[in-house]
Amino acid sequence: MKKNSTTHSAQNVDEIVSNALTELMSTKTLDDLDQWRIRYLGRKGIVVQLKRSISDLPSAERPEFGQTINSASKELEAKLLNKQEEILATDSKKTAESIDVTLPGVPVNNGSLHPITQTIRDICDAFTAMGFEVIEGPEVELDYYNFQMLNIPKHHPARDGFNTLWIDQEDSNGEKPMLLRTHTSPMQIRTMENQEPPVRLIVPGKVYRYEATDSSHEWHFSQIEGLAVDKGITFANLKGTLYEFARKLFGEDVKVRFRCDYFPFVEPGAEMSIDWNSRTNQTGDANWIEILGAGMVHPKVLKAVGYDTDKYTGFAFGIGVERIAMLKNGIDDIRLFYNNDIRFLGQF
Ligand code: DAH
Repeated sequence: MKKNSTTHSAQNVDEIVSNALTELMSTKTLDDLDQWRIRYLGRKGIVVQLKRSISDLPSAERPEFGQTINSASKELEAKLLNKQEEILATDSKKTAESIDVTLPGVPVNNGSLHPITQTIRDICDAFTAMGFEVIEGPEVELDYYNFQMLNIPKHHPARDGFNTLWIDQEDSNGEKPMLLRTHTSPMQIRTMENQEPPVRLIVPGKVYRYEATDSSHEWHFSQIEGLAVDKGITFANLKGTLYEFARKLFGEDVKVRFRCDYFPFVEPGAEMSIDWNSRTNQTGDANWIEILGAGMVHPKVLKAVGYDTDKYTGFAFGIGVERIAMLKNGIDDIRLFYNNDIRFLGQF
């Protein structure tokens, strides 16, 4: 005799499926859907129960009933997937609609040039406008270019002033031929060696000194070297060029002052200062601040690169970039440039 004949009729399975589908229609969320899945298709769900009850049937009826259950189960699984897609689609549509495009966006931080880069560009602009070419050179340099060819032979006292960082590599004489350049002047030599006059160049770049740091000293900093060699170049050309540079950078009213100074690679040598007060139209005593070294290229330097000193003369200068950037921006500590503090850098 059939046990529990209602459970084991195909009609009953149809009823279960149609109930299941009605319930499915009204699910709105993925959570609801999961509850539904557990109820019908879960490990202890109705479909599994139906499958288990097959063994209660007489063996002749089992295959047909088994098939009915299998196709019912497949149908429910297919409908489950459809419903899941439907819910996901409406959810994402809702999220899209909930984006208020009129709200202000997330602020984006704009980058800017480092103040030293900006200053280098300003200085280069002033000189390129006067016909100077911008070139760069190596930071690891030979003693030969950094000192010897600039009229600073071995054991010359001027070397003491350059607090040199040497590269730890000796030649056959036990001497160290390489260093981190202490100034950008070696590019004077490297250029003149390969080029006949006229020469008009500026060389921005980093230089290194073995020095303790404080508010006005860094062990690495930037310079801009300048060189002009041609027929008939005089000290008046030097003054005129550097005065024009000062006006471009600090304003038309700026006052400059030249005084004697000594550098082995120039004769005569000079330093140029600007009157910081003149720039801002302030009255009162002048406030002279030195911003560069300069001079007429020493004949020994011109001869060393094979230039005819009867034909050619020239002037050279070296500008400390950090000094200028500090003056222009009212910065009182050189170390701020290299601390990488966004609160400082963000101001430029
Ligand atoms: N090289 C010098 C230094 O680092 C600066 C300098 C002075 C460069 C006079 C020049 C010059 O070309 O003529 O102290």
